[in-house]
Amino acid sequence: SEIDKIISLNLNNLDLSKLKEISEHADTLKQFEEWKKLPILYELALEELQNKIKLIQAEWELTDGFSPIEHIKTRLKDPKSMIEKLVRKGLDTTVDNIFEHIHDIAGMRIVCAFVQDIYRMFNHLQQREDIKIIEIKDYIANPKSNGYQSLHVIVAVPLVLMEGKRWVKVEIQMRTLAMDFWASLEHIIFYKYDKQVPPHIVHELTEAAKAADELDLKMLNLRKEVLSLDESVTP
Ligand code: GTP
Ligand code: MG
Repeated sequence: SEIDKIISLNLNNLDLSKLKEISEHADTLKQFEEWKKLPILYELALEELQNKIKLIQAEWELTDGFSPIEHIKTRLKDPKSMIEKLVRKGLDTTVDNIFEHIHDIAGMRIVCAFVQDIYRMFNHLQQREDIKIIEIKDYIANPKSNGYQSLHVIVAVPLVLMEGKRWVKVEIQMRTLAMDFWASLEHIIFYKYDKQVPPHIVHELTEAAKAADELDLKMLNLRKEVLSLDESVTP
């Protein structure tokens, strides 16, 4: 609705006269409360998930002597992009629709050293009762036509609130360092050309993605070799 739109677009600098006008309508005020709560809930969901992953990381470090996670990044979608996405999807701009239909408000990128580590992490996430798997897109097994690779998993994590338990969604992107290197640079080039990338550049980018993939494979084989050396040494 119109009021929803106004509220959402001015979340950060809403003036009080508007608030007063809105508060004459109890229903709208309730919606307003929900709008205000939204970024807080997603921020908390990210924190909860990050803590779970930190714990896994610490355990792996203890058992293996090193962590398979290179780094973790998180980000929150800003209200404007949320609204734009709803409009693009042809949905009413309500908080309920955001909770229900937008899966990438909270995003987490986990960058691992090796491809194997990504699936190891994913298998672990699947087994946990405090994480629900909502959707999986395996662009590692099935890379996009431009060569993009990553494992995308939409999960939900429970937040215990006064009102009860609430499952909040987070989009996790898992990649290797090589995949992350490629995706980060491709993103920059893509935006420089304002999404109209000349064909030869598209081609070169896809070739570069293949090179990144080969690098991953090479490093994985080197690791396997080193690990088997290890085994042959220990009695
Ligand atoms: P969105 O509406 O953009 O979220 O698309 P989608 O719902 O089809 O999701 P998908 O899982 O395909 O991609 C989501 C996210 O993955 C994007 O927002 C990017 O962060 C990343 N991504 C997907 N494709 C590419 C790509 O070709 N290049 C780069 N650099 N990133 C990509
Ligand atoms: Mg997205």
